[in-house]
Amino acid sequence: MSNERTVKRFSKFVIIAHWTNAISFIMLVLTGLPLFLGISVPDVLQIVHRVFAVTFLLPTPFMILMDRKGFMNWTKNAWSWKKHDFQFLAVFPLELIGKAKNIPKQDFFNGGQKLNSVLTIIGAIIMVCTGFIMWFKELFPKVLVQWAYPVHDAGMAIMVAVIIGHVYLSVGHPASRPSFMGMTKGVVPESYAKEHHGRWYDELKEKNEI
Ligand code: HEM
Repeated sequence: MSNERTVKRFSKFVIIAHWTNAISFIMLVLTGLPLFLGISVPDVLQIVHRVFAVTFLLPTPFMILMDRKGFMNWTKNAWSWKKHDFQFLAVFPLELIGKAKNIPKQDFFNGGQKLNSVLTIIGAIIMVCTGFIMWFKELFPKVLVQWAYPVHDAGMAIMVAVIIGHVYLSVGHPASRPSFMGMTKGVVPESYAKEHHGRWYDELKEKNEI
């Protein structure tokens, strides 16, 4: 694979934003878990949790400022669902055990990555809004504050489940493991782009970009 031709996938700004987001998320889970379990912890943990809530948010304005095209590419792709995305999700359980055949050509993000993106965006909005309400509780009606707690907890549980799947596919699953190189070096092997993101690969060919 070392001599293989590669294709540019992510800018350095996307990579910085992704890892800032990922580290913040992990720290939010680690610092939030004792609060969720009601374990008695030093007050400073609540402050650390809030600091990482802010760093979790920062990648969005950072991307809009530094790489609007990359940001738009992600958000537009995440919400554009076509037949081939649903077909991907239908064969995905077989793909997991390496038995899927005739997977239709996929866009820059495949159906599973689009689903991950949509769940991440919705989950992040829910977590940020409920977190904000709990942080500044004196500004909100009591009933809203009461609801914010269970919704924040349920949101965290769902997001953790989504992220566990996402991490497995990025570093564990043999077929999709080359994607990790995209999020570290910014490039992926050309053969991987062709096999896993055929529609994107065809577009690059048409535009003479590879
Ligand atoms: C900590 C371990 C993580 C690893 C190893 C990892 C790995 C990756 C990789 C390799 C990609 C690029 C896939 C592609 O080629 O399109 C990616 C994309 C992405 N990551 Fe992560 N990630 C991690 C954590 C997170 C966290 C914590 C979040 C959100 C809170 C997140 C959200 C996303 C989203 C929304 C995308 C774009 C859609 C997708 O490719 O599924 N990631 N990640």
